[in-house]
Amino acid sequence: EDARIGLIGLGTMGAALASNIAEKGFDIAVFNRTTQVTRDFAAQAGDLAARITPTESLEDLVAAIAKPRAIILMVPAGDAVDAQIDALRPLLDDDDLIIDCGNANFQDTDRRVEAATGPFLGVGVSGGEEGARHGPSIMGGGKADLWARVEDIMTAIAAKHEGDPCAALMGPGGAGHFVKMVHNGIEYADMQMIAEVYGILRDGHGMDYDSIGDVFAEWNKGPLESYLIEISGKVAHAKDLATGAPLLSVIVDAAGQKGTGRWTVIEAQHRLAPVPAIEAAVVARNLSARLEERAKGQEVFGAAPQAFDGLDLTTLEKGLMAGKILCYAQGFEMLSAATRDFGWDLPMSRIAQIWRQGCIIRSSMLDDMASTLNAEPGVNLMFTDHFAAILRDTHGALRQVVAQAALNGHPLPALSSGLAYFDMMRTTRGTADMVQGQRDFFGLHGFVHTNGKTGQHGPWAKG
Ligand code: 6PG
Repeated sequence: EDARIGLIGLGTMGAALASNIAEKGFDIAVFNRTTQVTRDFAAQAGDLAARITPTESLEDLVAAIAKPRAIILMVPAGDAVDAQIDALRPLLDDDDLIIDCGNANFQDTDRRVEAATGPFLGVGVSGGEEGARHGPSIMGGGKADLWARVEDIMTAIAAKHEGDPCAALMGPGGAGHFVKMVHNGIEYADMQMIAEVYGILRDGHGMDYDSIGDVFAEWNKGPLESYLIEISGKVAHAKDLATGAPLLSVIVDAAGQKGTGRWTVIEAQHRLAPVPAIEAAVVARNLSARLEERAKGQEVFGAAPQAFDGLDLTTLEKGLMAGKILCYAQGFEMLSAATRDFGWDLPMSRIAQIWRQGCIIRSSMLDDMASTLNAEPGVNLMFTDHFAAILRDTHGALRQVVAQAALNGHPLPALSSGLAYFDMMRTTRGTADMVQGQRDFFGLHGFVHTNGKTGQHGPWAKG
């Protein structure tokens, strides 16, 4: 009866989160559908066992938690969450709180909050297993009074950036899962841009895997310092357990995905928020999976990427910096669009702060983004003093990278779309006049005249 919190679902993430909670001094009752998993978890809990109550039925779980209860769900996103809520709610008191810490679609979370079957929070948790165990980044969503009930636990288990916990309430309803979704979209684009540069180093410069690993390790000491650059270096250095060959050389280059990047892109379209680098990253994963067609393409047209050496490492590093800033700018603009469309008040600079540690996209650049978004709220990151200065210094390099890559057959979907975004965003007079002219020609859709008059037509409208 005295566990402070409960947790259902002892998969990789659930087990890590439960251990983290226990380690921070909170008594926790746990339950898993397969009882053996619960027993195994309890058996290996070591020093933490005293704070962990393993239970073998939902009734026992509920009975083990102090009232008003709080129970974390760590089950696969989607139907499993609804099934779990349906099974659990009848056993709970009216003010007992269910917290979904999985990668839920924010619309599902909105629906679950609206369903009003009882108090509910949707909380995005980032950082993989390591983060869940030792300090993730936590994006809360739901009513403030409900968040307040578990805020001490959330801040205790979260990663810390110079003592500041990477956990915060993002807003009502699905806001936490929305922010987590955009985090994952940015994650996709950041990963893809790194992979594109890796391709230039491998197939353009003909570098071996260890040397590529060295380049990433070196970049990780500079402005690109980030978890993703760090692990990219480690992945490039790693050897295959079975053969001892470079690990990358034995990994089939067809990317998997669970869908959060795709959700980001679909939702961005609904919000009319341009996130081309994220879209390109999702497309690149989809295309990568078409192994047979790609082999066919190589047969018909010849292999695309050619060796070339026109790019030095500094140009590549700067190009990647520019691409990264543009991809984050797009992500934050999408968050602004949600604030506008949903009547939320997403705390932009706080979001950058809680992404500084714990989550997959943590990086030193996010530190600057946090202070920049604080100093210049509501401004597209690319136009802020700090990042505009970096872009002025680096967009030429991005252009070099994209141009050289294109000339030598290296596909750079994310970096090139980042560049196109940059160029469109600094062009007062673009080419949509032609699109409007075409629309008016074939459908009399009307256009805005430069004299300010709306609903204007071309000569074809006469008579
Ligand atoms: C995180 C990760 C995590 C998970 C992704 C992977 O922030 O900890 O984003 O949520 O690793 O869902 O997504 P894909 O399987 O779609 O690449």
